[in-house]
Amino acid sequence: MRIRHVKGSEEYVAASPFVIQRPEDHKGRFSKEVFGNDAPLRLEVGMGMGTFIRELAASDPGHNYIGFELNTTVLYKALRRYERQLLGEAGTERAEEAPSAVEERDERGASEERPSAITEATGNLRFIRSDARFLSDYFSEGEIDRIYLNFSDPWPKDKNANKRLTSQVFLEHYKHILKDGGMVEFKTDNRGLFDYSMETFPAAGFEIKTMTYDLHHDPELSKGNIMTEYEAKFSAKGNPICRLTAVYFKK
Ligand SMILES: C[S@@+](CC[C@H](N)C(=O)[O-])C[C@H]1O[C@@H](n2cnc3c(N)ncnc32)[C@H](O)[C@@H]1O
Repeated sequence: MRIRHVKGSEEYVAASPFVIQRPEDHKGRFSKEVFGNDAPLRLEVGMGMGTFIRELAASDPGHNYIGFELNTTVLYKALRRYERQLLGEAGTERAEEAPSAVEERDERGASEERPSAITEATGNLRFIRSDARFLSDYFSEGEIDRIYLNFSDPWPKDKNANKRLTSQVFLEHYKHILKDGGMVEFKTDNRGLFDYSMETFPAAGFEIKTMTYDLHHDPELSKGNIMTEYEAKFSAKGNPICRLTAVYFKK
């Protein structure tokens, strides 16, 4: 999907107390230095507007969460939504506003003053704007407890296979930064990408723990499922949602 650039989004992201501006400075010490505790660290790679990780972090104060996103405008929109959630304005956007109104409000926001109530980051969620290709530069071996990949771009052409977030290139980074026995959870409605990933994970040494081609109709695996933006959109169209969980044990 093409994202319209929002003027001022770079400055907004650069000034946000919730964005870790130099992740490499915290390598190996993330939880202590960024969150001030020793809780296990979980990461969503390619989080989009952050609906999933915001809800997950709020429901699970026992873990630290990082939303990792490549696109600055997308991260900016995620930040706007997170700030509204913290200011107690959450819910309005889902229940009462058309998505276009939320978008419009996000875009106005870049030139507005930052809400004065949020000058300092608290809580168990932070964000990084970067490419997943640099994950091993930011996190040390075994620093991550779990990785979530939701509706990753499918890159259907063979020549782009290495850009898929479940390709060998990225799985090597996940293996490095995951703790022994750490897990990747991957959801998509794209059957081609899912079938491809069912092969790449075991080929890289992961054990597939669970899998389904229809998460929303699986009474066990759907328990506690948190929908992402893409998941809501595609399941509303009737697309079944595939999910796998894969564990990596270090030799
Ligand atoms: C199709 S969207 C899915 C968003 C969200 N996870 C969801 O399920 O609604 C994929 C997101 O991954 C981000 N992305 C793609 N490649 C990435 C990479 N190499 N590193 C970090 N983020 C990436 C894109 O910018 C985009 O926001």
